[in-house]
Amino acid sequence: MKRLKLAILISGRGSNMEALLRAAEDPAYPAQPVLVASNRPDAKGLETAASAGIATASVDHKIYGKDREAFERALDTELEKAGTEIIALAGFMRVLTPWFVGKWQGRMVNIHPSLLPKYKGLHTHQRALDAGDTEAGATVHWVSPGVDDGEIIQQARLPILPGDTADSLAARLLPVEHKLYPEALAKACATLQASNS
Ligand code: GAR
Repeated sequence: MKRLKLAILISGRGSNMEALLRAAEDPAYPAQPVLVASNRPDAKGLETAASAGIATASVDHKIYGKDREAFERALDTELEKAGTEIIALAGFMRVLTPWFVGKWQGRMVNIHPSLLPKYKGLHTHQRALDAGDTEAGATVHWVSPGVDDGEIIQQARLPILPGDTADSLAARLLPVEHKLYPEALAKACATLQASNS
């Protein structure tokens, strides 16, 4: 089976990116990483990707001020240069414009640390705790124009325990995300391949 050329966009640590890179070490995995790009030149994940032998790009959003689309056009140039066929957002903390989402719609997925449709946006764990929820989780979804709003591909859940804080919940969720994302991205690749054939 043909492997889709995968670009991973990050803004920081990049532990989900690492999980995707690890999964893609298997030649049977349906995506092949061709680029890891960040809007933050100091993102730790860029170093991790480079030491794994993956091409990296840094497109600093600050240079473009309030012009989100100009930033995205520069990022898009890098994505096209790398031959990107599918994008995985992995802790990429930029709200995307309709132009960028429109261009990559159906070819771009995201991981979000809540059980969507609950808690779109930021501070998901604190909001789950404040609401008295008994479970938390993560969602991988197709990216659509609304923030954290696209069709759900796969979710993973975990119980909220007495004494949990936003930090303890985030830490317990992370390994769950690392298992979820490679599985969900594989599903997304299968969907995309089926729609291309
Ligand atoms: C992850 O928990 C991911 O779900 C979250 O940021 C973290 C990134 O960690 N994403 C979002 O909040 C997106 N809105 P990582 O850099 O170690 O993968």
